[in-house]
Formats: sequence, structure tokens, C-alpha cells
Amino acid sequence: MGTLVVENVVAGYGSGPNILKGLSLTVESGKAYCIIGPNGAGKSTLIKVIAGLLKPREGKIFFKGEDITPLRADQVLQRGLCYVPSDRSLFPDMTVKENLRMGGFVMRDTRKVDERIDELFAQFPILKEKSSQMAKTLSGGQQQLAAIARAMVLKPEMIMLDEPSLGLSPKVVQQIFGTITTLRDQGLTILLVEQNARKGLQIADMGVVLDLGTNSFEAPACDVLNDPRIQELYLGKRHQAVAAEECK
Ligand SMILES: Nc1ncnc2c1ncn2[C@@H]1O[C@H](COP(=O)(O)OP(=O)(O)O)[C@@H](O)[C@H]1O
Ligand SMILES: [Mg+2]
Repeated sequence: MGTLVVENVVAGYGSGPNILKGLSLTVESGKAYCIIGPNGAGKSTLIKVIAGLLKPREGKIFFKGEDITPLRADQVLQRGLCYVPSDRSLFPDMTVKENLRMGGFVMRDTRKVDERIDELFAQFPILKEKSSQMAKTLSGGQQQLAAIARAMVLKPEMIMLDEPSLGLSPKVVQQIFGTITTLRDQGLTILLVEQNARKGLQIADMGVVLDLGTNSFEAPACDVLNDPRIQELYLGKRHQAVAAEECK
């Protein structure tokens, strides 16, 4: 049984067309999944539906066996399923520490929140160093790290990251992906959406291709990297065996 089960989800915005057209996906505990697919395929929409920010028109979402479809976004967070949006959504004029405190807003015990922030500062020393600086003064990579840390305040079991590499230089992307790998190695379940299909698949256990609102292909990430069709469509190259070291 998966930690997260998405069952025949149909979703769209307002009175607009269906963007997700009967999408099903099972995410197993402790694994990293990377969702790739063309622009506009509905990747961010899927994450928003799982996070409780957009109600599906049809279908259900289960997290650890519980039907979370009717829950509000803050209730989903409390269940241990966190979300890092692609725009990072930091409060630019608040300090790094204040931003992290916002990550614990659903927790009653503010002392626990501060304890948790200290743990995260130990894990991400650069954030400790910048803790009293305003978020807007951080570099892009540091902002992404702060957004991840903010989601980690609740000690989630699963984290969803929408395009964490957006706007970052290759070196910084490498660092952020290293952080995501570490979190996975610590037992966190990861659902990653990536434009950078190759990099995303390289750190993932499973690859999922989303196309026209449905999950068109799901396989171990290495098999997705090696699939000739995927290579032409998403990796920008002709079929070529992927070197073993590119696979996890
Ligand atoms: N807030 C919104 N209101 C209306 N349409 C939207 C909204 N957000 C996304 N869409 C539309 O939904 C489709 C899928 O978008 P999205 O899920 O962001 O795709 P992806 O993340 O795969 O690029 C696109 O056609 C987009 O224009
Ligand atoms: Mg998107």
C-alpha cells in the first residue's frame, strides 16, 4: 500500500476545462518520485490538488490510508504532507527565522517550533548564519533552502517540491538536489516536479510522465531515463543508453 494514493482525480480551475483527466498515482513510503511532463501538462495542478489547495471535481486522495480529499490545506499539513511551491512563497520582508516560524503556524506549542528551528539550523548552517536577515536578501539557492526548511518545521513524512531548480545556476541546482537526496535518505517521502527532467530523474527512485492530464508512464527512474521516447521528448537527445552512474 502506498503512503499517498491518488485515485482517478479530475480537476480544473473555476468553470474551466478539466486539466487533470482521471489521474491515478501511488507513492510508496520513503521513496523519491519525480514527475516530468511538458509545460501546462498539469504537474503543478496535481501538487495543488494533493496539498488541498484545489478541490478535485472527481476522484479521491488518500494519505496513510485516510481520505484527505475533503481536508483544507492546513489540515493536510497537519497530517504530515508538506508542499514547497515553485515561487517559494517566502515573506520577503521577514527574517529567515520569522519565515521558518511561519512554517510552524499550525503548531500550538511555539517552544516546540523554536526547538525544531534550532534542529534545522544545525542541519542547514547557512540558514543559521542568515537567520536574522530578511528573506529577500538571500540568494536564489538560499531562498529555496529556506523554503524547504520552512516545510520541514512540521517534521513531515512527505514533502512535495514544485520545480525547486527554477532560476538557479547549475552549481546551486546540484546543491539543492543534494539536499533533497539527503532528506530522502533520512526517510522522507518525496514528490518532485521538475522541468530539469534529467537531473530530477537522476536523484529519484521512480519517474512519472504526466501528459494531457493523465499519468502516461510510470517506471523506475532509471528506466524512464533510458526510454528512447522519453529521451527524444524530454531529454533532448537521440536514444542512447544512459551510463550506469547516471542511475541511482
Ligand atoms: N489558477 C489557474 N487558473 C486557471 N487556469 C490555470 C491556473 N493554473 C494553471 N492553469 C492552467 O492549467 C493548465 C496546467 O497548468 P499547470 O498545472 O501549472 O501545468 P505544469 O505545472 O505542468 O506546467 C495550464 O493550461 C494552465 O494554463
Ligand atoms: Mg508547473
